[in-house]
Amino acid sequence: MNGRVLLIIGGGIAAYKSLELIRLLKRKGIAVTPLLTKAGERFVTPMSAAALAGEKVHDDLFSLTDEVEMGHIELSRAADLIVVAPATADLMARAAAGLASDLATTVLLATDKPVLMAPAMNVRMWGHPATQRNLERLKADGVHFAGPEEGDMACGEHGMGRMAEPQTLLEAILDMLPGTGAENGTAAPALPEGLLSGAKVLITAGPTHEPLDAVRYIANRSSGRQGYALAEAARDLGARVVLVSGPVSLPVPEGIEIIPVETAREMLQAVRDELPADIAVFAAAVADWRVENAAAGKMKKEQGTPRLNLVPNPDILATVAGMEKGRPTIVAGFAAETDDVIDNARRKLQAKKADIIVANDVSPQQDVFGGAENTVHLITAQGVDSWPRMDKQRVAEHLMRHLARMWRDAKRSRAAEQADS
Ligand SMILES: Cc1cc2nc3c(=O)[nH]c(=O)nc-3n(C[C@H](O)[C@H](O)[C@H](O)COP(=O)(O)O)c2cc1C
Repeated sequence: MNGRVLLIIGGGIAAYKSLELIRLLKRKGIAVTPLLTKAGERFVTPMSAAALAGEKVHDDLFSLTDEVEMGHIELSRAADLIVVAPATADLMARAAAGLASDLATTVLLATDKPVLMAPAMNVRMWGHPATQRNLERLKADGVHFAGPEEGDMACGEHGMGRMAEPQTLLEAILDMLPGTGAENGTAAPALPEGLLSGAKVLITAGPTHEPLDAVRYIANRSSGRQGYALAEAARDLGARVVLVSGPVSLPVPEGIEIIPVETAREMLQAVRDELPADIAVFAAAVADWRVENAAAGKMKKEQGTPRLNLVPNPDILATVAGMEKGRPTIVAGFAAETDDVIDNARRKLQAKKADIIVANDVSPQQDVFGGAENTVHLITAQGVDSWPRMDKQRVAEHLMRHLARMWRDAKRSRAAEQADS
């Protein structure tokens, strides 16, 4: 079995497509728990959903039997991913408002799992400022969206509001469910191969150590885990990966070329030596300053308290992203912030000319530095996409796929530009 989806089917004409989605998910070996809203049951029958899923359908918040078997809170967390398809205007509004007035909204409020919504509604309902407000609020809450698409509607109108096709939804779900991609339920690699075939991905990870003298140094709390997980995810997508790593205590991942460095200047030199690359991801926590007057030997206590003269280190992200020649197609930076996370990351994106900044809150209460989980916001020229809290491996898998798509899109538009000129 390749994960479990809790599928909430809302009350819209497109509900029939969700039956097809159940079939496609099952064919991939993904378990489906169907949850129908009261309105959803007017469009498809619980019997059809149960028969296709091969599982009991949930539809009642106050079902005594369900509460005894699996409480509503447990239900909200038993799946790896919650999919709402179709997400009606009403369901989006209720979820955006944080209501828990029925089983679907209670589950959405109680869950700690990622949520993917597939809106479906009339073109004017979709374009209404209230729905757009709800969409923005849900996105800010970390909900992911697939569609809607433009086309002819059941109501006879044409425009934006058609639910994404089941195949498109399946792909979005596979993107969000690590460990899937299996055809016919057979064991498969954790990630689809080939998305980065032929690409060279250069990644920096870990802290830097800036010497004070022959034995002491300035460091930071970076564990290198996020960068190492990214390197593995890129390798699994078929890339040739070079990992320039500061001092960490992590095992060397298989199939990845590691270049160990200590200082920021060594890291920059190693990065320069490894260019050109298709994608560069600067996930290392590089020290902003180094000690200009570091002693060659060990400083002695008897010599008195030393005065450290700090000078700025080279900015690796800005140096590479600003290159006129030989710049990687996609340059991604990380922004570890403790305050105004998104605003600071936006400024960083512009100032450093990066294509994308992955911002994370590293204030002590978030337990990100050194911890196993991360909450990230993706900042690009197009806007901000906030992801729910996930372990660092999942962040890496999603992020690498995202960067792979950016790389492919950039290559495609470059090819189109060349064909035009
Ligand atoms: C024939 C019919 C079709 C409908 N289609 C949609 C639709 O496509 N999208 C939508 O947002 N609402 C649609 N509605 C309205 C919803 O069913 C209604 O808002 C309902 O309260 C949604 O409940 P739910 O969000 O709990 O599923 C439709 C209603 C009817 C009677």
